[in-house]
Amino acid sequence: MYWVEDFYSRTGQWWGRAEARLTDRDHHRVSLLHDHCGGAPKRVLELGAGYGATAVATAQAGHMVTAIEISDRIDFVDGLARDVSPGALGVIKDDFYTVRLDRPFDVVCYWNGFGVGSDADQRRLLERIATEWLRPGGAALIDVSNPFVWARWNGGEEHLMPAPERGYDHELHERTTFDPVSCVAVDTWWEASSPHQSISQFLRCYTPADLMLLLAGTGLQLTAITVGDRTFTPTPQPGLAELLHEHHEYLAVLRHNG
Ligand SMILES: C[S@@+](CC[C@H](N)C(=O)[O-])C[C@H]1O[C@@H](n2cnc3c(N)ncnc32)[C@H](O)[C@@H]1O
Repeated sequence: MYWVEDFYSRTGQWWGRAEARLTDRDHHRVSLLHDHCGGAPKRVLELGAGYGATAVATAQAGHMVTAIEISDRIDFVDGLARDVSPGALGVIKDDFYTVRLDRPFDVVCYWNGFGVGSDADQRRLLERIATEWLRPGGAALIDVSNPFVWARWNGGEEHLMPAPERGYDHELHERTTFDPVSCVAVDTWWEASSPHQSISQFLRCYTPADLMLLLAGTGLQLTAITVGDRTFTPTPQPGLAELLHEHHEYLAVLRHNG
């Protein structure tokens, strides 16, 4: 995943001044954690924490949080974590494929990021969650990119003008494509002043059925999916508009079999 650190560090330089802050999205994620796992204090591991805003909101809600992030985005977290109780948030700038953690967690979260690399890479991560990090009976909450909506965005282009008053200092272009063979969304960005220096993120998308195949043998089981505001069992849902048309990702609730 040669592109990961550079892509998220560079885009973090572009957007961090605007986006490294706590928003309703972070508090909504904490509500989802409470809906699926209960509100009592938990040991929470957050993978791919970005700027750290959700980790801060989770710690502020009374949980003990460990946040892992490989890119420079996490350098913003100190400015967000001032109100967090001492010891409630631990931040590790490292690669979650190699980092060593010495205690089990009640909940592992990966908000908006799963799908980087090959299927074998995702399975390696899921196996680490199941065998090293999650206590038996614990839950993993993982946002999964939805191929039905990403496929419809194929060919989309955006031209974003700077808005310094909102913290956006760069004039940027974005192009989105979708590979229907590998089921990978390719999201490419470049500065208007440097059209030949584009950077891309590659996101493997999974339907719930594909995700269940991916989980086989990992020790994790898909027990629910939340799409928008509604939660479903992973059983046939013919015509389900939320997944077919409306949301580019869904939250997969995975339970540890052990
Ligand atoms: C799409 S961003 C989402 C960030 C954050 N979860 C959020 O929702 O704002 C995915 C994040 O995962 C991080 N990431 C991807 N692969 C990683 C790895 N192997 N180790 C640690 N962090 C990783 C990226 O650097 C990036 O910040």
